[in-house]
Amino acid sequence: MLLPDSFIEEVKFRNDITDVVSSYVTLKRRGRNFVGICPFHSEKTASFNVYPENGSFYCFGCGVGGDVITFIEKIENLDYIESLKFLSARASIQMPENDKKSEELSNLKRRIYEANRESARYFHRSLYSKAGKEALSYLYNRGLNDNTIKRFGLGYSPKSKYELINHLITLGFNQSEIINANLAYASYNKISSRFFDRIMFPIIDLRGNVIAFGGRIMSDQKPKYLNTSDTLVFKKSSNLFALNFAKNDESDTLILVEGYMDVIALNQAGFKNVIATLGTALTSEQAKLISRYSKEVVICYDSDIAGQKAASRAISLLRETGLLIKVLAVPNGKDPDEFIRSYGDEGKIRFKKLIENSANDVEYRLQKASKGFDLSSSDGKIGYLKEATKILATIDSKIEQEVYASKISDIIGVAKTSIMEQIIKEYRRQRNNNEKKYIKKINQDISSRNDSINKEKMNNLRAAIAEEAIIAYIINNQDLANNIFSKLPCENLCTSFNKKIYKMLMLRNQEGKSISLTALTQDLSSDEISSIAKMLAKESQRNSTKADADEYIKVIIEEKEKLNVSLLEEEKIRDYMKKLKESKN
Ligand code: UTP
Ligand code: MN
Repeated sequence: MLLPDSFIEEVKFRNDITDVVSSYVTLKRRGRNFVGICPFHSEKTASFNVYPENGSFYCFGCGVGGDVITFIEKIENLDYIESLKFLSARASIQMPENDKKSEELSNLKRRIYEANRESARYFHRSLYSKAGKEALSYLYNRGLNDNTIKRFGLGYSPKSKYELINHLITLGFNQSEIINANLAYASYNKISSRFFDRIMFPIIDLRGNVIAFGGRIMSDQKPKYLNTSDTLVFKKSSNLFALNFAKNDESDTLILVEGYMDVIALNQAGFKNVIATLGTALTSEQAKLISRYSKEVVICYDSDIAGQKAASRAISLLRETGLLIKVLAVPNGKDPDEFIRSYGDEGKIRFKKLIENSANDVEYRLQKASKGFDLSSSDGKIGYLKEATKILATIDSKIEQEVYASKISDIIGVAKTSIMEQIIKEYRRQRNNNEKKYIKKINQDISSRNDSINKEKMNNLRAAIAEEAIIAYIINNQDLANNIFSKLPCENLCTSFNKKIYKMLMLRNQEGKSISLTALTQDLSSDEISSIAKMLAKESQRNSTKADADEYIKVIIEEKEKLNVSLLEEEKIRDYMKKLKESKN
């Protein structure tokens, strides 16, 4: 990487990690550090830590960590160079000329965006050409008008497997760009279009780029929908269909449906705040994205078993982000698109009623639970009460719990206070369990039995822990680094990953360069960075003194000697065996 250190240090200096992280995560001060709910995994207890002292962050829950540049890479879904660009723009710093390789990569990304855009245009034109006649009447038959078709940029991919490719090549795209965009694949020395004879739904990101396509077949053949696979510019699990439109809607609510056609039909009926996943179950990344653009989400999935299962899963993911959740059941096993259309002009009003009458997720779950019991029998009542208590114990608000407790009291004729008692007991039990699980996880994390970055750690645990401590200590105290490097030459480190890092630090120090985490991030993978951030996080808990540092050095040297002795022993034995063999001959 050819970007000068001084530039990267400046970017880091002008983008205080606490400031930057605060615009994504609500941070609370804890001593010298800050904690918050991790934006990279779903959690209820804050295990995401920011350490202003050395500009790092680390999550004890999911093990993600790094510096401010890594943070932006992950949260904005950018690569290293893009993240630097992002942060330099944020601090109004001029970006120097890019490194060649990353420039190539960002060029390729740009070409993929362009190829996608050109393809979307091409598909749209084809829809209104002679070849698209059947496709267009298919869409009209499904109740869409030209305005809607235009708004969503719908199109048609022609029957020929080569037309689009030829068109793109005429426009100057090369085969590799077209394949990298997943618009085509190579077969028999030729490349063929991925999509042909399908209705095309462009998928557009929040910045207005066409990043992928969904293509629907017009017959009963399978697959019904074919989607772009993940590419350099598209990750299925972290994008949502039509969020580019929905985010502009003024309401604080988003309606989450299952299909492209549901989104489009609802849009045409005037509901602009509708989104869908891209042919997969909702992910926690998508749940977080939703929570960034709304306060409430109405889940509107099919009423078949698969749809209801998906809804339950979505509820728990969405709940963890703190969103208010409602669940809308479309009657008669219809999907929203079919429902709206079946009522013609009245569809819009009917659907609005459905939204208004949709139960919040607690009501939905209570209703679902009640269906499993015969509430006229005592056994049924007790069974229902047990289930209901479990559900209500997942709510954090006591007032909310009370509201439902009195509803349940009405249904089964048990005093509200006794129900509340049960709920509180169950609440404590659940929290306790969560807490225990959490502590267990942290402990596991700390002993890191399966450290995938430092594979030798388990066999050299005592040495590896001291090595990690000394690395973190050096990063935090560069002024004391000379002293440590002279006492502890790098040959003494036992595990090769730590040795590599230690060497990097040593080299930089000799060259008079800074030895922050940022200085290392350029040359390391994101997992490697996380593992160093973890060393720093642990150091922050320990807060080592100079005496501690001497102790780490002592341990490392001791362990190295042991290792040498055992190697020596092995060698002696080998020698002995050899001699034995020779004497026999
Ligand atoms: P549905 O089967 O419910 O289709 O799939 P739909 O959206 O109602 O489509 P129409 O009304 O039959 O045209 C819901 C969503 O699941 C994904 C698509 O995103 C679709 O919109 N899906 C479905 C696929 O990705 N591949 C498939 O083969 C089927
Ligand atoms: Mn449908």
